[in-house]
Amino acid sequence: MSGTYPDLNGKVVLVTGGSRGIGARTAHAFAAQGARVCVVGRDAEALDAVVAGITGAGGTATRAVADVTDSAAVDEARRHVESRFGPVDVLAVFAGGQGLPVPTVELTEQRWREVVDSDLTSVFLTVRAFLPGMVERGRGSVVTMSSAAGRQPSQANLAYGVANAGVVMLTRHLATEVGPSGVRVNCVAPSAILTETTQARMPAAVRDKVAALHPLNRMGTPDDIADTALFLASDAASWLTGLTVDVSGGRVTN
Ligand SMILES: NC(=O)c1ccc[n+]([C@@H]2O[C@H](COP(=O)([O-])OP(=O)(O)OC[C@H]3O[C@@H](n4cnc5c(N)ncnc54)[C@H](OP(=O)(O)O)[C@@H]3O)[C@@H](O)[C@H]2O)c1
Repeated sequence: MSGTYPDLNGKVVLVTGGSRGIGARTAHAFAAQGARVCVVGRDAEALDAVVAGITGAGGTATRAVADVTDSAAVDEARRHVESRFGPVDVLAVFAGGQGLPVPTVELTEQRWREVVDSDLTSVFLTVRAFLPGMVERGRGSVVTMSSAAGRQPSQANLAYGVANAGVVMLTRHLATEVGPSGVRVNCVAPSAILTETTQARMPAAVRDKVAALHPLNRMGTPDDIADTALFLASDAASWLTGLTVDVSGGRVTN
Protein backbone atom coordinates (compact mmCIF):
# COMPACT_ATOMS: atom_id res chain seq x y z
CA MET A 1 0.00 0.00 0.00
CA SER A 2 1.13 3.52 -0.69
CA GLY A 3 0.64 6.22 1.91
CA THR A 4 0.22 5.84 5.62
CA TYR A 5 -2.34 7.58 7.80
CA PRO A 6 -1.42 7.50 11.51
CA ASP A 7 -4.82 8.94 12.50
CA LEU A 8 -6.50 5.72 11.27
CA ASN A 9 -4.60 3.69 13.89
CA GLY A 10 -7.14 2.31 16.41
CA LYS A 11 -10.16 3.67 14.52
CA VAL A 12 -13.22 1.46 14.14
CA VAL A 13 -14.00 0.86 10.46
CA LEU A 14 -17.00 -0.99 9.05
CA VAL A 15 -16.86 -2.14 5.43
CA THR A 16 -20.01 -3.44 3.73
CA GLY A 17 -19.18 -5.70 0.80
CA GLY A 18 -16.14 -6.72 2.82
CA SER A 19 -16.36 -10.43 1.99
CA ARG A 20 -14.60 -10.18 -1.37
CA GLY A 21 -13.37 -7.94 -4.16
CA ILE A 22 -12.87 -4.24 -3.57
CA GLY A 23 -14.41 -4.31 -0.07
CA ALA A 24 -12.17 -7.13 1.16
CA ARG A 25 -9.05 -5.38 -0.16
CA THR A 26 -10.16 -2.14 1.48
CA ALA A 27 -10.74 -3.92 4.80
CA HIS A 28 -7.18 -5.29 4.65
CA ALA A 29 -5.84 -1.83 3.84
CA PHE A 30 -7.56 -0.20 6.83
CA ALA A 31 -6.37 -3.01 9.10
CA ALA A 32 -2.81 -2.48 7.86
CA GLN A 33 -3.11 1.12 9.13
CA GLY A 34 -3.95 -0.23 12.60
CA ALA A 35 -7.72 0.19 12.32
CA ARG A 36 -10.10 -2.33 13.90
CA VAL A 37 -12.25 -3.56 11.06
CA CYS A 38 -15.69 -5.17 10.80
CA VAL A 39 -16.50 -6.73 7.42
CA VAL A 40 -20.13 -7.19 6.40
CA GLY A 41 -21.63 -9.42 3.69
CA ARG A 42 -24.01 -12.35 3.25
CA ASP A 43 -21.39 -15.09 2.79
CA ALA A 44 -20.20 -16.15 6.25
CA GLU A 45 -17.41 -18.37 4.91
CA ALA A 46 -15.97 -15.62 2.73
CA LEU A 47 -16.18 -13.16 5.64
CA ASP A 48 -14.37 -15.64 7.89
CA ALA A 49 -11.59 -15.94 5.30
CA VAL A 50 -11.15 -12.15 5.22
CA VAL A 51 -11.08 -11.96 9.03
CA ALA A 52 -8.53 -14.82 9.14
CA GLY A 53 -6.37 -13.03 6.54
CA ILE A 54 -6.41 -9.79 8.55
CA THR A 55 -5.78 -11.39 11.94
CA GLY A 56 -3.12 -13.65 10.39
CA ALA A 57 -1.30 -10.50 9.27
CA GLY A 58 -1.43 -9.11 12.83
CA GLY A 59 -4.55 -6.97 12.39
CA THR A 60 -7.83 -6.80 14.29
CA ALA A 61 -11.09 -7.78 12.62
CA THR A 62 -14.55 -9.17 13.16
CA ARG A 63 -17.43 -9.91 10.82
CA ALA A 64 -21.20 -9.51 10.69
CA VAL A 65 -23.38 -11.52 8.34
CA ALA A 66 -26.07 -9.20 6.98
CA ASP A 67 -28.06 -8.56 3.84
CA VAL A 68 -27.71 -4.79 3.57
CA THR A 69 -31.07 -4.47 1.81
CA ASP A 70 -32.64 -5.48 5.15
CA SER A 71 -32.64 -2.63 7.68
CA ALA A 72 -33.06 -4.97 10.69
CA ALA A 73 -29.98 -6.95 9.59
CA VAL A 74 -27.97 -3.73 9.16
CA ASP A 75 -28.98 -2.61 12.68
CA GLU A 76 -27.90 -5.99 14.02
CA ALA A 77 -24.50 -5.56 12.31
CA ARG A 78 -24.17 -2.14 13.98
CA ARG A 79 -24.91 -3.64 17.39
CA HIS A 80 -22.32 -6.36 16.74
CA VAL A 81 -19.50 -3.99 15.83
CA GLU A 82 -20.33 -1.60 18.67
CA SER A 83 -20.27 -4.44 21.21
CA ARG A 84 -16.92 -5.73 19.89
CA PHE A 85 -15.04 -2.53 19.11
CA GLY A 86 -17.21 0.47 20.08
CA PRO A 87 -18.76 3.14 17.85
CA VAL A 88 -17.84 3.23 14.17
CA ASP A 89 -15.50 6.05 13.10
CA VAL A 90 -15.31 5.18 9.41
CA LEU A 91 -18.10 3.68 7.35
CA ALA A 92 -17.20 2.28 3.92
CA VAL A 93 -20.48 1.52 2.15
CA PHE A 94 -19.19 -0.70 -0.64
CA ALA A 95 -21.75 -3.55 -0.99
CA GLY A 96 -23.52 -3.82 -4.33
CA GLY A 97 -22.62 -4.65 -7.88
CA GLN A 98 -25.60 -5.58 -10.08
CA GLY A 99 -24.27 -3.95 -13.24
CA LEU A 100 -24.50 -6.76 -15.79
CA PRO A 101 -25.78 -5.37 -19.10
CA VAL A 102 -29.48 -5.79 -19.92
CA PRO A 103 -31.15 -3.89 -22.76
CA THR A 104 -33.71 -1.56 -21.19
CA VAL A 105 -36.55 -3.07 -23.23
CA GLU A 106 -35.78 -6.36 -21.45
CA LEU A 107 -35.33 -4.91 -17.96
CA THR A 108 -38.22 -6.21 -15.86
CA GLU A 109 -39.84 -4.26 -13.04
CA GLN A 110 -38.62 -6.92 -10.61
CA ARG A 111 -35.01 -6.64 -11.80
CA TRP A 112 -35.18 -2.83 -11.63
CA ARG A 113 -36.34 -3.02 -8.02
CA GLU A 114 -33.66 -5.60 -7.11
CA VAL A 115 -30.86 -3.49 -8.57
CA VAL A 116 -32.06 -0.26 -6.96
CA ASP A 117 -32.44 -2.09 -3.64
CA SER A 118 -28.97 -3.59 -3.92
CA ASP A 119 -27.08 -0.53 -5.14
CA LEU A 120 -28.96 2.48 -3.74
CA THR A 121 -31.51 1.64 -1.03
CA SER A 122 -28.87 -0.44 0.76
CA VAL A 123 -26.61 2.62 0.92
CA PHE A 124 -29.41 4.68 2.49
CA LEU A 125 -30.18 1.92 5.01
CA THR A 126 -26.53 1.51 5.99
CA VAL A 127 -25.84 5.22 6.34
CA ARG A 128 -29.08 5.70 8.27
CA ALA A 129 -28.03 3.07 10.80
CA PHE A 130 -24.65 4.69 11.58
CA LEU A 131 -25.15 8.40 10.96
CA PRO A 132 -27.08 9.29 14.15
CA GLY A 133 -24.17 8.08 16.33
CA MET A 134 -21.61 9.95 14.22
CA VAL A 135 -23.65 13.16 14.38
CA GLU A 136 -24.08 12.77 18.15
CA ARG A 137 -20.34 12.25 18.64
CA GLY A 138 -19.55 15.13 16.29
CA ARG A 139 -17.15 13.10 14.15
CA GLY A 140 -17.01 10.38 11.56
CA SER A 141 -16.23 9.75 7.93
CA VAL A 142 -18.40 7.96 5.41
CA VAL A 143 -17.11 6.71 2.06
CA THR A 144 -19.81 5.60 -0.36
CA MET A 145 -19.38 3.54 -3.52
CA SER A 146 -20.69 4.68 -6.88
CA SER A 147 -19.43 3.64 -10.32
CA ALA A 148 -18.31 5.14 -13.61
CA ALA A 149 -21.72 3.82 -14.75
CA GLY A 150 -23.32 6.38 -12.43
CA ARG A 151 -21.21 9.19 -13.90
CA GLN A 152 -21.85 8.69 -17.59
CA PRO A 153 -23.91 6.32 -19.78
CA SER A 154 -22.34 2.88 -20.00
CA GLN A 155 -22.88 -0.75 -20.99
CA ALA A 156 -24.23 -1.55 -17.50
CA ASN A 157 -28.00 -1.89 -17.12
CA LEU A 158 -30.07 1.28 -16.71
CA ALA A 159 -31.08 0.56 -13.11
CA TYR A 160 -27.43 0.20 -12.07
CA GLY A 161 -26.46 3.47 -13.77
CA VAL A 162 -29.36 5.34 -12.19
CA ALA A 163 -28.80 3.79 -8.73
CA ASN A 164 -25.12 4.73 -8.80
CA ALA A 165 -25.92 8.27 -9.96
CA GLY A 166 -28.25 8.34 -6.95
CA VAL A 167 -25.36 7.45 -4.65
CA VAL A 168 -23.49 10.53 -5.92
CA MET A 169 -26.43 12.80 -4.96
CA LEU A 170 -26.95 10.95 -1.66
CA THR A 171 -23.31 11.74 -0.89
CA ARG A 172 -23.61 15.43 -1.79
CA HIS A 173 -26.89 15.83 0.07
CA LEU A 174 -25.62 14.17 3.25
CA ALA A 175 -22.31 16.04 3.17
CA THR A 176 -24.22 19.33 3.22
CA GLU A 177 -26.61 18.12 5.91
CA VAL A 178 -24.14 16.65 8.39
CA GLY A 179 -21.02 18.73 7.66
CA PRO A 180 -21.88 21.20 10.44
CA SER A 181 -21.88 18.23 12.86
CA GLY A 182 -18.29 17.35 11.93
CA VAL A 183 -19.15 14.32 9.80
CA ARG A 184 -17.69 14.03 6.29
CA VAL A 185 -19.25 12.05 3.42
CA ASN A 186 -17.36 11.33 0.19
CA CYS A 187 -17.74 8.86 -2.64
CA VAL A 188 -15.52 6.75 -4.90
CA ALA A 189 -16.65 5.99 -8.45
CA PRO A 190 -14.48 3.26 -9.98
CA SER A 191 -14.31 2.33 -13.62
CA ALA A 192 -13.39 -1.28 -14.51
CA ILE A 193 -11.62 -2.91 -11.56
CA LEU A 194 -9.86 -6.24 -11.88
CA THR A 195 -11.24 -8.16 -8.89
CA GLU A 196 -11.04 -11.94 -8.55
CA THR A 197 -14.61 -12.11 -9.96
CA THR A 198 -13.75 -9.97 -13.01
CA GLN A 199 -10.56 -11.93 -13.52
CA ALA A 200 -12.50 -15.22 -13.57
CA ARG A 201 -15.22 -13.89 -15.90
CA MET A 202 -13.21 -11.83 -18.37
CA PRO A 203 -10.91 -13.46 -20.94
CA ALA A 204 -7.46 -11.84 -21.31
CA ALA A 205 -8.28 -10.44 -24.78
CA VAL A 206 -11.36 -8.67 -23.39
CA ARG A 207 -9.33 -7.31 -20.48
CA ASP A 208 -6.88 -5.78 -22.98
CA LYS A 209 -9.77 -4.12 -24.83
CA VAL A 210 -11.23 -2.76 -21.59
CA ALA A 211 -7.79 -1.50 -20.52
CA ALA A 212 -7.46 0.37 -23.82
CA LEU A 213 -10.65 2.35 -23.05
CA HIS A 214 -8.75 4.07 -20.24
CA PRO A 215 -6.18 6.81 -20.97
CA LEU A 216 -3.79 5.17 -18.48
CA ASN A 217 -4.17 1.96 -20.53
CA ARG A 218 -4.85 -0.51 -17.75
CA MET A 219 -7.76 -1.76 -15.70
CA GLY A 220 -7.98 -0.60 -12.11
CA THR A 221 -7.04 -2.75 -9.14
CA PRO A 222 -8.78 -3.11 -5.77
CA ASP A 223 -5.74 -1.33 -4.30
CA ASP A 224 -6.51 1.75 -6.44
CA ILE A 225 -9.87 1.99 -4.67
CA ALA A 226 -8.55 1.05 -1.23
CA ASP A 227 -5.87 3.78 -1.46
CA THR A 228 -8.51 6.38 -2.33
CA ALA A 229 -10.81 5.21 0.47
CA LEU A 230 -7.99 5.44 3.05
CA PHE A 231 -7.19 8.98 1.95
CA LEU A 232 -10.84 10.12 2.00
CA ALA A 233 -11.43 8.55 5.43
CA SER A 234 -8.27 9.97 6.96
CA ASP A 235 -7.51 13.39 8.43
CA ALA A 236 -5.46 14.10 5.28
CA ALA A 237 -8.86 14.79 3.69
CA SER A 238 -10.26 16.71 6.66
CA TRP A 239 -11.52 19.60 4.49
CA LEU A 240 -13.01 17.41 1.79
CA THR A 241 -16.67 16.47 1.85
CA GLY A 242 -19.40 15.87 -0.71
CA LEU A 243 -16.89 14.84 -3.37
CA THR A 244 -17.05 11.94 -5.77
CA VAL A 245 -13.57 10.80 -6.80
CA ASP A 246 -13.54 9.17 -10.24
CA VAL A 247 -10.99 6.39 -9.84
CA SER A 248 -11.02 5.58 -13.51
CA GLY A 249 -7.60 5.81 -15.12
CA GLY A 250 -8.66 9.06 -16.77
CA ARG A 251 -11.82 7.64 -18.35
CA VAL A 252 -14.16 9.88 -16.34
CA THR A 253 -12.84 13.35 -15.74
CA ASN A 254 -15.82 15.58 -15.05
N1 LIG B 1 -15.46 -4.19 -9.97
C1 LIG B 1 -15.71 -3.09 -10.67
O1 LIG B 1 -15.24 -2.93 -11.80
C2 LIG B 1 -16.58 -2.00 -10.09
C3 LIG B 1 -16.70 -0.80 -10.81
C4 LIG B 1 -17.51 0.20 -10.29
C5 LIG B 1 -18.15 0.04 -9.09
N2 LIG B 1 -18.03 -1.15 -8.41
C6 LIG B 1 -18.76 -1.28 -7.16
O2 LIG B 1 -17.88 -1.71 -6.14
C7 LIG B 1 -18.59 -2.50 -5.17
C8 LIG B 1 -17.85 -3.79 -4.94
O3 LIG B 1 -17.72 -4.41 -6.19
P1 LIG B 1 -16.78 -5.66 -6.44
O4 LIG B 1 -16.39 -5.63 -7.86
O5 LIG B 1 -15.75 -5.78 -5.38
O6 LIG B 1 -17.88 -6.81 -6.33
P2 LIG B 1 -17.85 -8.31 -5.79
O7 LIG B 1 -16.48 -8.88 -5.84
O8 LIG B 1 -18.97 -8.99 -6.50
O9 LIG B 1 -18.28 -8.08 -4.27
C9 LIG B 1 -19.54 -7.55 -3.96
C10 LIG B 1 -19.59 -7.39 -2.47
O10 LIG B 1 -20.83 -6.79 -2.10
C11 LIG B 1 -21.49 -7.63 -1.16
N3 LIG B 1 -22.94 -7.53 -1.35
C12 LIG B 1 -23.63 -7.40 -2.51
N4 LIG B 1 -24.93 -7.34 -2.24
C13 LIG B 1 -25.08 -7.44 -0.89
C14 LIG B 1 -26.19 -7.45 -0.01
N5 LIG B 1 -27.45 -7.33 -0.44
N6 LIG B 1 -25.95 -7.57 1.31
C15 LIG B 1 -24.69 -7.68 1.79
N7 LIG B 1 -23.61 -7.68 1.01
C16 LIG B 1 -23.80 -7.56 -0.33
C17 LIG B 1 -20.97 -9.03 -1.44
O11 LIG B 1 -21.09 -9.79 -0.27
P3 LIG B 1 -21.61 -11.33 -0.22
O12 LIG B 1 -21.23 -11.96 -1.50
O13 LIG B 1 -20.92 -11.87 0.99
O14 LIG B 1 -23.08 -11.20 -0.01
C18 LIG B 1 -19.52 -8.74 -1.77
O15 LIG B 1 -18.76 -8.58 -0.59
C19 LIG B 1 -20.01 -2.68 -5.72
O16 LIG B 1 -20.86 -1.76 -5.09
C20 LIG B 1 -19.86 -2.33 -7.20
O17 LIG B 1 -21.04 -1.80 -7.76
C21 LIG B 1 -17.26 -2.17 -8.89
